[in-house]
Amino acid sequence: MIKKISFSYKIYNSVKDLNELDQKLIEASDQILEKAYAIYSGFNVGASALLENGEIMTANNQENMALPSSLCAERVLLYYCRAHFPDLVIKKMAVSVRATHAIIKEPITPCGACRQVMVEYERNQNSDIPIFLKGEIGEIYELNSISDLLPLAFKTDALKRH
Ligand code: THU
Repeated sequence: MIKKISFSYKIYNSVKDLNELDQKLIEASDQILEKAYAIYSGFNVGASALLENGEIMTANNQENMALPSSLCAERVLLYYCRAHFPDLVIKKMAVSVRATHAIIKEPITPCGACRQVMVEYERNQNSDIPIFLKGEIGEIYELNSISDLLPLAFKTDALKRH
């Protein structure tokens, strides 16, 4: 037997094609990337999350001269949300990038470690987290869920949940 996994996602030419709330979410990730601590890579990433109470949380990538100690914007954001609002559902996310040495003309997609973290929160809350992805210029992608980004994600019932 062969099983096929596929998914579809939306592409927008401009933020102007989105509704007001989605534009606000992307504006938030665009703004927060400016404050990223990305002095080693020059690659600024901003992430935003719309919570079910209507608030928008934001974060950015945090680097360190011990490079593996750095953390991506997506994980800084989700750990913050989980720390402060453990019971609030995340309705939507956005990720924006801007590099100092190049113009990023297409969206970047989250790294594998961030996908793993995001997919666990998505599963825990029992509802999909659509995510917008945006470069400095160019098209914007909207994916319907994090699990689309990580098919066959690691999952087991053999680990005890406290
Ligand atoms: N980075 C993110 O913050 N999110 C991603 O999805 C990919 C990469 C950061 C990590 C590092 O600070 C810089 O971008 C270059 O890899």
